[in-house]
Amino acid sequence: MLNLGLSKLAERTIDPPISWLMKLALERPKLISLAAGFTDNASLPVGASAELLRDILAEPKIARASLQYGSTAGDMELRNLTLRRLEHLDGVPRKTYSAENLLITHGSQQFLYLVTECLCDTGDIVLVEDPTYFVYLSILQSHGIEARGVKFDLDGLNLDVLESVLEKLKSEGNLARVKMLYLVSYFQNPSGVTTSSEKKQAMLEILRRFEKDAGHPIYLLEDAAYRELQFSGASVPSALITAEARKRVIYAGTYSKPFATGVRVGYGYLPDSLVQPVTRVKGNHDFGTSHLLQQLVRAALTSGKYEAHLPALRERYKHKAEIMATAIRTHFPQSVGWEAAAGGLYIWARLPGSVQTGPKSALFRACLKSDVLYVPGELCYAPDRTRRAPQNEMRLSFGSASEEKIREGIKRIGKEVSKLAPKGAN
Ligand SMILES: Cc1ncc(COP(=O)(O)O)c(C=O)c1O
Repeated sequence: MLNLGLSKLAERTIDPPISWLMKLALERPKLISLAAGFTDNASLPVGASAELLRDILAEPKIARASLQYGSTAGDMELRNLTLRRLEHLDGVPRKTYSAENLLITHGSQQFLYLVTECLCDTGDIVLVEDPTYFVYLSILQSHGIEARGVKFDLDGLNLDVLESVLEKLKSEGNLARVKMLYLVSYFQNPSGVTTSSEKKQAMLEILRRFEKDAGHPIYLLEDAAYRELQFSGASVPSALITAEARKRVIYAGTYSKPFATGVRVGYGYLPDSLVQPVTRVKGNHDFGTSHLLQQLVRAALTSGKYEAHLPALRERYKHKAEIMATAIRTHFPQSVGWEAAAGGLYIWARLPGSVQTGPKSALFRACLKSDVLYVPGELCYAPDRTRRAPQNEMRLSFGSASEEKIREGIKRIGKEVSKLAPKGAN
C-alpha cells in the first residue's frame, strides 16, 4: 500500500461507526430516519437570529468588534452570562463559580476533545458508561485511549461496578493509566437516563479513593449537552455544586441543543489546575471560537430571546416524545423494555435477548428494506473486551423526524420486531 506519510493519529482514526448510517439516510430520500441526532428543524430560532444578527451588524462599532478575532477563552460578557446561567440552573448563590474557570468553545464537542487531549496519552484509560455517546468513543479511539465500560442501570452508572472496575485496574497495576470517568449526565445520549446529584457525588467519592494509587487526580467529565431540553421531572444540579467537587469535575455545556445546533457555541467549566493547560491547547486549535457567533448567543441571552425560545422548544420535544411513546405502546411487543423520556431527544429500547439489532442483523436489514433506520445499540458500547456488550438494544430519536414520520417509523420497526420476538413474549 502507498505510504501516505500520515501521522499515527490519522492512521489509527477509523471512520466514525455512525458515518455509514448518515450515508444510508442521504442515499435513500424516502428513508425515515429515527437514527439522526439532529434537533427539530421547525423549532430553530430563525426570526430571533435574523433580528439579533441584524442588530449586531447595524451598529458599526459592535459590528466591527464582532467581525474581528476575539480571545482564546471567549467573550468576557458571554462567559459571565453563561456563569450566571449555570449558577441559576444549579441553584447556588451568585458568584459561587468563577469566569476564570469558564472557556467558550466551538460546541461542547471541541471542549470534550480539548480536555481529552490535555489529560490523556495513547495507552491511557477513560471509564465510560455502558452505553455512552458514540462520538466520544471515536475521540478515544482516534487517540489510542482505552475505553473501559462501566455497567449502567435504569438510574445510571452502577456504583458497585465502578468500584470493582477500579479495584481490578488497581490489582493489574493499571490505575496510573486511568485519567477520568466520562458521564453524560442529563437525558443521556443514548439511553435518556439522568443521573441524580447524589449519585454524581458518590462517583466523585469513589474516584477520589483511588487517586492515591493512581498517583494523580481522576476527574469526572460531566457532559450536560441535553440539560436544557428537560420537559418533565425535577431539575438536578450538576456535579459542580461543592467547592471540593470543583477540584475534580470538568463540566461541558452547550448552547447548540437549546438554541441552534448550527451555531455550535459551547462551553466548559474547569478545575483551577486545568484552566491554563486547556486554554493553551485551545489557543493552538483556533485561538478563539467564532466571535460573531458568540455575539449572537450573547445577544440572545441579554435580549431575553434565548429564555423566550426555551418553553416552546421543550413543549415541542415533549409532544414528539409522547407521540413516539404512544406509537411504541401501540406497535412494539410488550417484551420490549423502554422508559418514557423526560427530556433530550432519545428513547432507548431493550428488545428480547434473542432479537439482535446490529448492522448485520435480520432486524436491521428488514427495517432498511422497509425504509426505516434506528441506531443499533451496540455502536454505543466501548470496544472493551473485559465484558460482553448487549446486542439487542436500539436508540430511537424523536428529535428531527416529523410527527407523522415518528408514527410511521415506529410502526414499521414494531412490525419487524414483532415478527422476530419470541411468540408468547407478549
Ligand atoms: C452527549 C453529547 N455531548 C456533546 C455533543 C456535542 O454537541 P455540541 O458540540 O453541538 O455542543 C453531543 C451532540 O450530539 C452529544 O450528544
